[in-house]
Amino acid sequence: MTNDKPKIIAGLVIFVILVTCPMWINMGKNKPAPKLEMAAEAQAKGYCVLPKADMKEKHMQILDGWRNSVVRSGQRVYVNDQGKRFDMSLSNTCLECHTNKAEFCDKCHVYASVNPYCWDCHVNPKEK
Ligand code: HEC
Ligand code: HEC
Ligand code: HEC
Repeated sequence: MTNDKPKIIAGLVIFVILVTCPMWINMGKNKPAPKLEMAAEAQAKGYCVLPKADMKEKHMQILDGWRNSVVRSGQRVYVNDQGKRFDMSLSNTCLECHTNKAEFCDKCHVYASVNPYCWDCHVNPKEK
């Protein structure tokens, strides 16, 4: 009779690894959402282009629309539902209130694993 002990132990080890596999794969995901800092400039204004929930969900579409409007039709003024006017500009409008790009835009993008390439061309006024 051969000694089966090593085989049984090896089998158990493989079993444990397979069973806990989903746990290993998910390690590092499901991180808690980062706490975002609102810049003093934004806080002082107290409003964004659209209500917060809409901004969270649609700011990429807004920026896309602004770019098309400026580049294709030279129309640079955006008026929201409250009648507030905004210069359609990534650097001159968004980042004039959200002056803390790293602590606000970037922090959330890193968390969401998105990496907007806009900064290849557009400047962060803070870094000028
Ligand atoms: C006049 C100042 C101002 C401008 C301009 C502005 N924001 Fe905001 N933004 C704010 C404020 C204040 C809030 C928080 C609003 C609230 O709590 O209701 C906010 C909220 C947001 C949020 C939601 C954050 C969260 O915690 O979910 C995003 C995303 C955002 N802004 C992106 C942008 C982008 C992109 C632009 C340019 C298209 C922009 N903002 C322009 C002041 C501004
Ligand atoms: C609360 C989280 C959050 C904040 C704050 C935030 N973003 Fe985003 N942003 C996202 C998410 C999530 C996406 C990806 C959405 C998608 O792909 O539909 C995104 C996508 C984008 C995109 C499109 C990228 C692409 O390659 O298509 C741009 C541009 C952008 N954000 C600009 C900004 C700017 C500028 C700010 C700061 C003023 C900002 N965002 C703040 C969550 C955030
Ligand atoms: C290859 C260079 C380049 C890249 C990358 C780029 N842009 Fe632009 N963008 C431009 C140029 C050039 C203009 C025209 C500037 C003008 O007429 O004021 C412009 C204009 C804009 C405007 C309106 C004017 C302004 O001052 O902001 C917006 C909004 C805009 N882009 C958003 C974006 C966003 C959002 C991204 C990333 C998803 C992006 N752009 C990536 C070159 C670029």
